[in-house]
Amino acid sequence: MAETLGFCEEMRPESCGLILFGATGDLAARKILPALFGLCEKNLIPKNFYMLLSGRTPLERSALESRLWTAMNNAGFTPAPETFGAFLGRLEYLQADYDSADFYRVLSARLDELDAKYGINKKRLFYLATPPAAFEPIVNMLKAGGLLADPLDCACWSRIIIEKPYGSSLETASSLDAGLKKAAAENQIYRIDHFTGKETVQNVLALRSANHVLDGTLNCRFVDHVEITVFEELGLEGRAGFFEKMGLARDMMSHILQLAAITAMDLPETFRDTDFKAQKKRFFESLRPYTRPEVAASVVRGQYAGYLAEPGVAPASAVETFMAFRFEVDNDRWLGVPFYVRAGKKAGKKQTSIDVVYKKPERGIFRHIDIGYPNVLSICIQPEEKVTVSLVSKHPGPKLCFAERGMSLDYRPDAREAPRYPTDYERLLIEAMSGDQTLFLSSLEMRLMWEFLAPLLEAWTEAPDENPLRVYAAGAPGPAQAEELLKKEGRSWV
Ligand code: BG6
Repeated sequence: MAETLGFCEEMRPESCGLILFGATGDLAARKILPALFGLCEKNLIPKNFYMLLSGRTPLERSALESRLWTAMNNAGFTPAPETFGAFLGRLEYLQADYDSADFYRVLSARLDELDAKYGINKKRLFYLATPPAAFEPIVNMLKAGGLLADPLDCACWSRIIIEKPYGSSLETASSLDAGLKKAAAENQIYRIDHFTGKETVQNVLALRSANHVLDGTLNCRFVDHVEITVFEELGLEGRAGFFEKMGLARDMMSHILQLAAITAMDLPETFRDTDFKAQKKRFFESLRPYTRPEVAASVVRGQYAGYLAEPGVAPASAVETFMAFRFEVDNDRWLGVPFYVRAGKKAGKKQTSIDVVYKKPERGIFRHIDIGYPNVLSICIQPEEKVTVSLVSKHPGPKLCFAERGMSLDYRPDAREAPRYPTDYERLLIEAMSGDQTLFLSSLEMRLMWEFLAPLLEAWTEAPDENPLRVYAAGAPGPAQAEELLKKEGRSWV
């Protein structure tokens, strides 16, 4: 029987064209093209919609189609011929030369033709799935080619989606941002962090807003500490070139802080853009950057055994594949509550979760007794999608004994429904087509993230002896020092 729904709100994507630069690259094949196909298959695209794929590689139509077929298969789709045909019918390929003004002239003319064919009034979403070094030059060329002008008297729009890495340091990120802003306004720039598009991540704020019983306890009066775990079973997966430059901290910090933000930020007045962003900004501003001694005491970095033997990894690489750290949120709500994070590649089974560990009762009958268990609110983001609360109750029987019990909310009780829901990338594409930046990262948020990360990265480079790289066995939940981080404060990971 269909569930009765309470308050509902829906984002409606506007008619538009999507232009995918870097269409023959890895990101496009793994994430973006499957997401576009998924949207078509789920009938979530606007009625008037086309895709223009562009990349440096010359591609005949048949080669394009077989590449797309392979990409869908690799992403787990076995499209029905008519669905795949309908997808192909909305797309075409244009070979790119990103540095040439001629290319943008040809592109502009073709977009005008496609707009006319599909009945679209110059509404264009440019997805830059290129290496980050190409972002600024491409955006400049788009501007020079008149492709970013959104005259006030026109209902048309042009938006740009970019993906991390947004620079590799505070300086390079700021310079990238300043460069982009010379050509495009902030409301045209959509910075993706795909974690914000995950159903279960959005559910955190939904749960908090709709259930006083939860949000009313998320503060220093009740909470002992918060744990965030982002473990991946996989290692490099052929991405050594990228990972050797980035390392885990740069690669994952944005995702981690997004999880922390939705857990700890004050609830916004509304779910949408300005209110949401304002509260998220306040959360980011309350992250205190580390001092050098704090890095040594509060941050652990690790590398899995065998990393150095991975193809493409430098023989003496000191790149981290794991990190654990402790931080505090400097505001009244979270005064003195430690947040512990652990994230790593080859760190055991894939697990992304947020665990809120409550204080044990310290008054009344439990004044001098340890009840034995804290309450824990566990939000499993993936692969399991559920929320559990551990409660302590009387163990049935003649004695008064306490035992741990659980309550659990299965986020998707009906697995048959799952294929109908948008995935993270699909959701973010819908939001960008709807012109809603709520789930995208603002320029300021990016800066605050880098300000948080910068002292940590500096300490690792400038004082490696104080911050040694710890080796952990592949498949283990990081090095022993990650356990120690909590143990020295009388705690342990959930
Ligand atoms: C990406 C990182 O942003 O997120 C990858 O670059 C990581 O290294 C991935 O594996 C994890 O995303 P998900 O959605 O698979 O948990």
